[in-house]
Amino acid sequence: MIKITLTTFKITNHWFLFLLLLILVSSCKTEQKAPREIQRGKLADSIMVVSAREEASRIGAEILKNGGNAFDALIAVDMALNVAYPFAGSLGGGGFMVYRKANGEIGSIDYREKAPMGATHDMYLDKEGNPIDSLSRQGPLAVGVPGSISGMFAINEKLGSMPMSEILEPVIQLAKNGYAITENQLNRFQKYAPVFDQVNGKEVLYSIGFRESDTLKIETGNFIKNPVLAETLQRIADNGKSEFYEGETAQLLVDFIEAHGGIITLEDLKNYEAVWRNPITSTYKNIKVIGMPPPSSGGVCLAQIFKMLEPYDMQEFGHNTVKSIQMITEAERRAYADRSFFLGDPDFNDIPIDSLISKAYASRRMQSFSFDKATPSAEINHGVISGYESMETTHFSIIDQYGNAVALTTTLNGAYGSKLYVDELGFFLNNEMDDFSVKPGEPNMFGLIGAAANKIEPQKRMLSSMTPTIVEKDGKLWMTVGTPGGSTIITSVLQTILNVADYNMGMQEAVDAPRFHHQWLPDVVIFEPDAFGEEILNSLQNKGYEIRQENSVILGKVDGVLVLPDGTLEGGADRRGDDTAVGF
Ligand code: GLY
Repeated sequence: MIKITLTTFKITNHWFLFLLLLILVSSCKTEQKAPREIQRGKLADSIMVVSAREEASRIGAEILKNGGNAFDALIAVDMALNVAYPFAGSLGGGGFMVYRKANGEIGSIDYREKAPMGATHDMYLDKEGNPIDSLSRQGPLAVGVPGSISGMFAINEKLGSMPMSEILEPVIQLAKNGYAITENQLNRFQKYAPVFDQVNGKEVLYSIGFRESDTLKIETGNFIKNPVLAETLQRIADNGKSEFYEGETAQLLVDFIEAHGGIITLEDLKNYEAVWRNPITSTYKNIKVIGMPPPSSGGVCLAQIFKMLEPYDMQEFGHNTVKSIQMITEAERRAYADRSFFLGDPDFNDIPIDSLISKAYASRRMQSFSFDKATPSAEINHGVISGYESMETTHFSIIDQYGNAVALTTTLNGAYGSKLYVDELGFFLNNEMDDFSVKPGEPNMFGLIGAAANKIEPQKRMLSSMTPTIVEKDGKLWMTVGTPGGSTIITSVLQTILNVADYNMGMQEAVDAPRFHHQWLPDVVIFEPDAFGEEILNSLQNKGYEIRQENSVILGKVDGVLVLPDGTLEGGADRRGDDTAVGF
């Protein structure tokens, strides 16, 4: 009996050792597991253009193939989006561009719209001082003085290598020959056709064939031509920038605006100038983030959020986990509270940029943060410094064969801007005036609250969230990225960069990954629907976060290019839109 017991013990002992060995071997195996295989997007050797429309990306890539540089290509892409993406294409709007030349030189240009000289701080308020519904969002008074043509000519003059007439030629052909509309576009035209008719007092190019009542209906794949826009672009190609700001086009534009009850004058157009500005630069671990300065809030907010996250091990927390969502949300909350107080047109305000993006300030702002529970926005005000934006924007990213990189975000603000369509010129006018604080303390169309720094003043630029961004890693060009999305732009760009920097994703994966957003007020975290597990959302709710998932929510359409270690370019074209990467 005893003998048997001893033998059993011996056997058990051997089994125990064997099991221990097995566990050790398998745990060694776990440590050595192969790195996750990255699902790459479009790859190319030397040229990559990623934009909201295939036609625009192709035109830009052709310019590069024919020897043009990224700055020539950006003008062609921007103008082609006017034709094929009137949703946000910007002849009647404005934008921002950040660049990094092959030699490492960086810069940015602001061609944001401006308030007309006749604008007043109370122009959208009734006698009781309350905002009049949609006056700043729709129709003639919503329109800011357009900056796009000034921006394109300034870029061409300083950085381009081709004459404007040559750059615009394929765009003019596109307007003449037309483009095939996609299902997304068809749905949008159908949705907005009655609004176009109502705002314009008649049918326009983009309502005919799209209304319920139309017998001859336009379908997906049908071509839309815009010969009037082709003529406008031809006059600009022939006569230069002054055609838009002083010539026949200017006169037609002003007559149109006046006839509809707007206040933009020839003097407003003549006075418009794009401005070169020094980009905001900041670091996050081993990357350098080059962003757009005010009047965009993008560069400052992005830098602030990165600085608040930097002391924490985001990699260890994991991608889209309760901890990483909490961290990002709390940093966003604090940065957006500052945005609303401090930021506005730098030509009208002293903005304490250096303090706002400093490490010391970030650490003071995060002192109240705890993983245990949400910090209510009601308890977060703007920070104390001593001494002292639409969903319907569009972004594109280009890297050329010479090593130049550009990130450009442009907008009409809302979908088709003010919905006013200048039928004699062939484009929509922006509704950018809504990006001002129409009444300080009242939310704009993105729910953003503004303060005096962003109040309406004649000739002032309205605050933006557009965040065209270039990232260096170890001193070399690494990524160019940006997105539309109004107030959600900054947080979408942030998450895309983090996805690559901390979570080892490729450009396409990073762009496609589910996103969430918080902007201080309203105090709610918005999640893309059905993309985050119930367990995560419940856990966040238990910590005091109000969460919202809506089917209509699209948090940006990010377009980016990543430079891989061997120099190959990876395009990331957001799956949420018709966005297309074209590379060679
Ligand atoms: N219009 C949106 C923005 O500039 O942020």
